[in-house]
Amino acid sequence: MTKIWGKALLAAASLFAAGCARSDMQDQPKYKPERPSDFFADGRSERQPVAGTVAWGPLDDDTAYYEGKDADGKDIEDFPLVVDKPLIVRGQQRFDIYCSPCHGRIGNGLGMIVRRGFKQPPSYHIDRLRNAPVGHFFDVISNGYGAMLNYAQQIQVRDRWAIIAYIRALQYSQNANVNDLPAEARNRVPAIGQAPIPAQTNEPLVPADSDFEDFPAQPATPSGVPGAHGAGAVHGTGPGSQPERQ
Ligand code: HEC
Repeated sequence: MTKIWGKALLAAASLFAAGCARSDMQDQPKYKPERPSDFFADGRSERQPVAGTVAWGPLDDDTAYYEGKDADGKDIEDFPLVVDKPLIVRGQQRFDIYCSPCHGRIGNGLGMIVRRGFKQPPSYHIDRLRNAPVGHFFDVISNGYGAMLNYAQQIQVRDRWAIIAYIRALQYSQNANVNDLPAEARNRVPAIGQAPIPAQTNEPLVPADSDFEDFPAQPATPSGVPGAHGAGAVHGTGPGSQPERQ
């Protein structure tokens, strides 16, 4: 009997002590990363990996590929991977998805979001950006630039390089000389004074208004969802109203 009471007393006492000194989870006897230690001879709390340790997962130590920088931290001038047609085609697809909304399909800075009021980016075809090293483009995509947010989360490293390869192709396309064309294509370029080839539309065509004409006036409401609006519903303009057109 006394033994049990003794144990209970001890438990209560230690609880009391813990409460006072806060030797609980908030204040653990542990080292935080990079904290010094006087326990180890080298004064560091962390131990060096033993010789021959193999990294777990990718090492990402190729700064040219992963950061677009050389050993001195300068933007690299040359692509750190093989640029071939599949890479450029992939780049075109990614560019059209992620960049063209602001930069436009040809990179002139007149994308749809800009036409709706967002800050206009510089054209890729100005001399400064035509001469900018590929590492600069990598930096802009990875870290953002002024009003432009970064795309590090959305676009994986290889795709960033693919996009840059495509931007280089765009830049070339807008500054090409007729002599750069193969002979066969050169013949199709009208001579001075000859009727011009019908003007090309550089931007994606805006869908015609008629495409929207059979929008359901009253979008289907999913059954069983109280107050739900179906796809295409316009908020705040009352049921059954057509989307306003500017
Ligand atoms: C939401 C709009 C938007 C999107 C999407 C966007 N950008 Fe930009 N970008 C901008 C704006 C705005 C600027 C100019 C920023 C400034 O000067 O403040 C800019 C600037 C740039 C510049 C020029 C930097 C310089 O040196 O002047 C490059 C290169 C660039 N963007 C590349 C890209 C690429 C590549 C993508 C796609 C991965 C992309 N941007 C997507 C808005 C956008």
